[in-house]
Amino acid sequence: MSIEIHGADIYTAAEKNGSGINEILDFSSNINPLGIPDSVKSACINSIEYSNRYPDINSSELIRSIASVEKVPTSFIFASNGAAEAIYRIAFFLMPKKGLVTAPAFSEYESALKAVGADINYYNLGEEYEFKINDNILNHINNDTDIVFLCNPNNPTGQITDIKTTEKIIDKCMKSGATVVIDECFLDFVENKESLSSVRLMNKYDNLIVLKAFTKIYAIPGIRLGYCMSSKRDVINGLKSSGPPWNVSNIAQAAGIAALKEREYVSRTVSNVKEQRNYMISELNKLNIKAYNSNANYILFKIFNDVDLKEELLKKNILIRSCSNYKNFDRSYYRIAVKSKNENKLLIKALYEIREML
Ligand SMILES: Cc1ncc(COP(=O)(O)O)c(C=O)c1O
Repeated sequence: MSIEIHGADIYTAAEKNGSGINEILDFSSNINPLGIPDSVKSACINSIEYSNRYPDINSSELIRSIASVEKVPTSFIFASNGAAEAIYRIAFFLMPKKGLVTAPAFSEYESALKAVGADINYYNLGEEYEFKINDNILNHINNDTDIVFLCNPNNPTGQITDIKTTEKIIDKCMKSGATVVIDECFLDFVENKESLSSVRLMNKYDNLIVLKAFTKIYAIPGIRLGYCMSSKRDVINGLKSSGPPWNVSNIAQAAGIAALKEREYVSRTVSNVKEQRNYMISELNKLNIKAYNSNANYILFKIFNDVDLKEELLKKNILIRSCSNYKNFDRSYYRIAVKSKNENKLLIKALYEIREML
């Protein structure tokens, strides 16, 4: 059985298979299948010319662009070296003693909490509730809770939390003195994202931090760019001082400014992902596989036979994400990205080839 912390490790997979990195078909990381927009590529290339200078320490132009797209003041924004960096800065600035995370969820919330010595409580997302958060989570928040991490849509389940439930959680935390971090790194892939986003709630609740990434939606995991937002000035200042300066490179700043102009690309992505996700879910369910509904650009599924599906597919140079290291999951659970039509067909074909094992 293979244990992994994250998907996306095509390097180890290629080494193991004795193949080139480009030969691995990577379904383990959830990156926009439309690829990097050309304008973003050009902006990165042009910015190399200025890499003999330090980057703007305040990421000023990038932050103005983010503010205009998010419709929030520039003072609400902290730009980070990928969303993961922001998660750790939040933990190191707030130094929570007790954190609440959902199980399963993106593992870096837990890792960042552990890094600052916090105790962790888990709110279990039951299969019987389709892995959705419900009001029962409120019973897990008490006066000892310092921070709550939520992910919307959740990774790896692809489930969304409605804004009313989200607001109840933030409200309860506000009253009990806890911070809520809502990770919306995959929300740009979701239809009607405006009605689901908690960004507007920042005006009402200063205990809310909203986290976003350029990584997934603009297909630039190698550039490292994310940001978080809060209406509390102390939080934004605290995040700045909780790590080294110049955390966002010239190249990343240029990429972000160009990416935020790509509005049509984002809406094309949403419809493309929806179509391919529906195709994949219906194809997976034709096999002896239970594919769960998803609102994001990835699909969680379960198999019923005792087989290491990741290993079997890797023999065919296809990398998927085993979910065996997520709390409450075991080796029967896997997550795949929704990729391009041709790539998706290749995965389905490969699954048919090993159909008798499933
Ligand atoms: C839910 C979630 N949040 C944050 C991140 C980190 O994103 P980044 O690569 O921008 O650090 C990931 C990466 O997989 C993720 O799945």
